[in-house]
Amino acid sequence: MSRPAPPESGRRGLYVRTWGCQMNVYDSERMAESLIPHGYAPVDSPEAAALVLLNTCHIREKAAEKVYSEIGRLAKLRRQRQAAGEDMMIAVVGCVAQAEGQEMLARAPAVDIVLGPQTYHRLPEMVARARRDRDARPAGAAAGAGLIDTDFPAEDKFDALPAARQASGVTAFLTIQEGCDKFCTFCVVPYTRGAEASRPAAAVLAEARDLVAAGVREITLLGQNVNAYHGAAADGGGVWSLARLVRGLARIEGLDRIRYTTSHPRDMSDELILCHKEETKLMPYLHLPVQSGSDTILKAMNRRHSRDDYLRVIERLRQARPDMALTSDFIVGFPGESEDDFAATLDLVERVGFAGAFSFKYSPRPGTPAAIARGQVAEPVKDERLARLQALLHRQEQDFNAATVGRTVAVLFDRVGRHAGQLVGRSPWLQPVHVTAPHNRLGGTASVVITDRTSHGLIGRLRRAVAVPASPAVSPSSSPVPSPTPAQEAALE
Ligand code: 5AD
Ligand code: SF4
Repeated sequence: MSRPAPPESGRRGLYVRTWGCQMNVYDSERMAESLIPHGYAPVDSPEAAALVLLNTCHIREKAAEKVYSEIGRLAKLRRQRQAAGEDMMIAVVGCVAQAEGQEMLARAPAVDIVLGPQTYHRLPEMVARARRDRDARPAGAAAGAGLIDTDFPAEDKFDALPAARQASGVTAFLTIQEGCDKFCTFCVVPYTRGAEASRPAAAVLAEARDLVAAGVREITLLGQNVNAYHGAAADGGGVWSLARLVRGLARIEGLDRIRYTTSHPRDMSDELILCHKEETKLMPYLHLPVQSGSDTILKAMNRRHSRDDYLRVIERLRQARPDMALTSDFIVGFPGESEDDFAATLDLVERVGFAGAFSFKYSPRPGTPAAIARGQVAEPVKDERLARLQALLHRQEQDFNAATVGRTVAVLFDRVGRHAGQLVGRSPWLQPVHVTAPHNRLGGTASVVITDRTSHGLIGRLRRAVAVPASPAVSPSSSPVPSPTPAQEAALE
């Protein structure tokens, strides 16, 4: 077995594993940044780590169970390393930590620190305390009680985190809003992430400027209910909406693309829809979870929108921005879901035509109303419905990608490909595009002719790299990707 790469000399290794949503990815980056001034440096295996950080997801049962299997593996590794005279601490953070709290320490005594999503700015202090406790124990003594902090503190964690961001890529996430007050009956988020709160617009703008100065060209604004954003205004009193914030961000020179996720249909305001028409930096792509196409189920889910409300939002978006790509989340087998309810979901999918989607079997979550509702659906029925829904969604994704073949699209190159001389980027509609291109194009946006597609992405070539101009792109009349708007064409030149 090859030895794991050690951390930079004199520094303690930090290994981070992240499950779940993009906000967890953002949180993990911020936690790692906060530990750097305390002598930690990232390593890529737990074998080389003095501290292992597990950032967890509680959204479905499977996600939560994976954490305990990983802790089991790490506990074994820890014993082996202790026998070899090395030690390693384990910190569990995120939504499972928040939901389980003290129970986690009882079930997994190898864990040193349990920290919720609202207290992770206290991580460096907790790690220092855990190290002091450990160093004070006589050699060979059993581990002491782990440390736990799952408060919803009054102070703002963002104020307590290091001010400067340490971006290393072309694209970055930026959390602008957190928590949820909507209480869908299946969802743990309002309990694990707490009440809805928005960061002040000035703080968001400052973080975005930092990211751009570090080379970031595309920012995805994050929030559990991102389009409910209402942060303190950056220009005096009052509050800014998401639309106002996007317009502010669009003025940052060097920032080329803006995205936001995840949105709720109820908060898709006219102002935000207009923004999609007018702000060329705002990408024509929206993830808008609908969960079900049946009004009965939407009501039981406490979604507070009907299927017609959803279809109307889509129509308005497409009027504003005809090339808008839409993705969504679906739950099948919610308590009480009949075959007719499920058929209504399939019908909604047919009507919208999605560019992609996530779909899940309903998973009862402790403490949520739906977990104890009557009419729980049998597992084989859920399996069968999920398979039918996924087959339809997969077909739509393939059609969407197929409609891009032959077109010229703007691609922002954000990473080096696996094959020599290849760069990978994203189309405005978030499709990955593989292109043979010189390394110095990384971080830039290029006009790319899409020549082919793979199972999950596209292949293209630089438009200007060919001696003979490409023939005009012809798209099928039924294309789910309508012709680019004039603003898009301008952006391609
Ligand atoms: N069971 C299955 N899927 C769920 N989601 C949230 N809670 C549950 C649950 N209890 C899905 C929703 C949500 C996405 C992030 O996860 O579709 O939009
Ligand atoms: Fe969960 Fe509903 Fe809030 Fe989304 S809107 S985070 S699904 S409670």
